[in-house]
Amino acid sequence: MKLFLDSAILSEIEYVYSMGICDGITMNPSLVKKAVDKLKEKGEHVSLEGYIKKALKIAKGTPVSLEVTARDTAGMIVQGKRLFKKFNPTARNVYIKVPVNTSFPEEKGKEFDGILAIKELRKAKIPVNCTLVFTPEQALLAAKAGANFVSPFAGRIDDLLRKENKMKFDKSDYFPIEGLSKGKHLDDNGIVSGVDLIAQTAEIFRIHGIKSEVLAASLRNARQVRECALAGADIATMGFETFKEMATHKLTMDGMVKFTEDSPKEYDDLV
Ligand code: G3P
Repeated sequence: MKLFLDSAILSEIEYVYSMGICDGITMNPSLVKKAVDKLKEKGEHVSLEGYIKKALKIAKGTPVSLEVTARDTAGMIVQGKRLFKKFNPTARNVYIKVPVNTSFPEEKGKEFDGILAIKELRKAKIPVNCTLVFTPEQALLAAKAGANFVSPFAGRIDDLLRKENKMKFDKSDYFPIEGLSKGKHLDDNGIVSGVDLIAQTAEIFRIHGIKSEVLAASLRNARQVRECALAGADIATMGFETFKEMATHKLTMDGMVKFTEDSPKEYDDLV
């Protein structure tokens, strides 16, 4: 399974690539803002274009998703083509991230704007990562329109179920794959947890031989990554903290303390 870093922070990108543990990058406007604000706080002058190009070079040979911000089909196609033209020549690894459905709650008639944009961008041979997917049905439509990656958001489904049940939680808390056993809102239209969303999507793609890759997104802890791997996700994208958590276990630490204490001086001199 491929592991992507969900970040626009160059130092994090450099670090995970230097270790050979990262297969791609996902960015969104919120992550780019976070990275740029951090640099500005330090008084560093930032050209966003140069900054993104640096990230693309580090990730050369692996996909980097850059997101559109327009909410109508024409706007997304224009932005997607512009982003691709401007950034893809740097390392030939740009994927355009398009929301599956861009309508706001009060709007009607925009349900397919994202799907149409995916279709048109793919027609122009631009690789697409379809984002903000919360049901297997949305995933199916995005795949039929030709999206290369389809990104169901696991963590936000867990948030929804916890909020609807008025639970106190931290975003990175583990949420059971099998869902809640008590409460009024046990599922979101048949989806009992974020990992269940990934599992159902991956199973549908498997049964029907759908070629789009399932990119499990909005993952906030290591156990979620493990469960998504078992559920058949092709890719998991996560923040740097989750990469760190994946490398960590208290018994590994205890073992290090013990080995370090026990090691005789003669052995330390040898190694
Ligand atoms: O890749 C999408 C991701 O950035 C969303 O994560 O934690 O804000 O739900 P989160």
